[in-house]
Amino acid sequence: MSKIPIILGIESSCDDTCAAILQGQKILSNIVSNQDIHKIYGGVVPELASRAHQQNIIPVVDAAIKKANITKEDITAIAFTKGPGLLGSLLVGGSFSKSFAMGMDIPLIAVNHMQGHILSHFIDEGEAMPEFPFLCLTVSGGHTQIVQVDSHNKMEVIGTTIDDAAGEAFDKSAKLLGLSYPGGPLIDQYAKNGNPYAFEFGKPKIKELDFSFSGLKTSILYKIQNNLQKNPKFIEENLADLCASIQHSIVSILLKKLEKAIKQTGIKQLAIAGGVSANSYLRSQLTELAKTKGYSLYIPKFEYCTDNAAMIAISGYFKYLDKDFADQSETPSARLPF
Ligand code: KG4
Ligand code: ZN
Repeated sequence: MSKIPIILGIESSCDDTCAAILQGQKILSNIVSNQDIHKIYGGVVPELASRAHQQNIIPVVDAAIKKANITKEDITAIAFTKGPGLLGSLLVGGSFSKSFAMGMDIPLIAVNHMQGHILSHFIDEGEAMPEFPFLCLTVSGGHTQIVQVDSHNKMEVIGTTIDDAAGEAFDKSAKLLGLSYPGGPLIDQYAKNGNPYAFEFGKPKIKELDFSFSGLKTSILYKIQNNLQKNPKFIEENLADLCASIQHSIVSILLKKLEKAIKQTGIKQLAIAGGVSANSYLRSQLTELAKTKGYSLYIPKFEYCTDNAAMIAISGYFKYLDKDFADQSETPSARLPF
């Protein structure tokens, strides 16, 4: 029997420095180092992110190797995020990975970050995995996509946002409410005690399977400004209701298009991925929808929702099986299509 490949995954597309080790589809380690520095600026500062990646990358990889209880000589191949993401951040993970591949004389594998989010469903945790084809709603801080997934290495974006991403809609709304960055998890938390129907905001009218969130943001801004003129304590007195209503609006936009995609494709196997898939309301609304309509639904574990390197390692594993390798001329790409 051939040896099961051990893949080191590296993720550095935004503000988390991540390294993970998988043997086949099983996790041996999964290390994420967050960069708290961005909190004080209310968003990710690209220059600070790349500097922090440079400081973190070696300790994070070292921790992943130690936690996996292996040596670097045991690693079969290294997979890294080629894009999309912040160029300076991608360069750190990419350069490290190229050097590691050259130094250890092992294959180098370039991975698309968004495909990584989707393939995190194939990390073996002893639970059922999606069957092909399935539709994946991929919702993160930078992207919002409906993806038709035909196999591990064949997938197509059939709907995308024409302006802000869903995560951005959460974060920008949170900023309007005076909440810190990233605001998505805070809205989720405050919304638990609020009424999702307390406030109504503008709904986008976008064709086909595409999304738009910029109108919603403007509608929230006007609602807040108008009410603050009448009552300076409007936000603090209504925080839970505002969060619940904003969250309800964002999730409704997502689910409406997902249902349209199900109708158009006839595919009834669904999955969600990306940072926003950690949202408790999206999870519960989608679970409810799947139950009533008889869809199969796959929801990732929380640690695989937000950025991590296990998703890059699992993508690397499937590319390794296809012998889809990169070489030393590989360069990161801030806007990388599938
Ligand atoms: O996938 P991710 O970690 O990074 C990107 O690739 O962008 O996604 C980060 C996004 C942020 O916008 C964050 O606010 C959002 O995911 N997020 C959430 C929740 N947890 C993370 N949004 C709503 N509810 C949550 N519980
Ligand atoms: Zn991501």
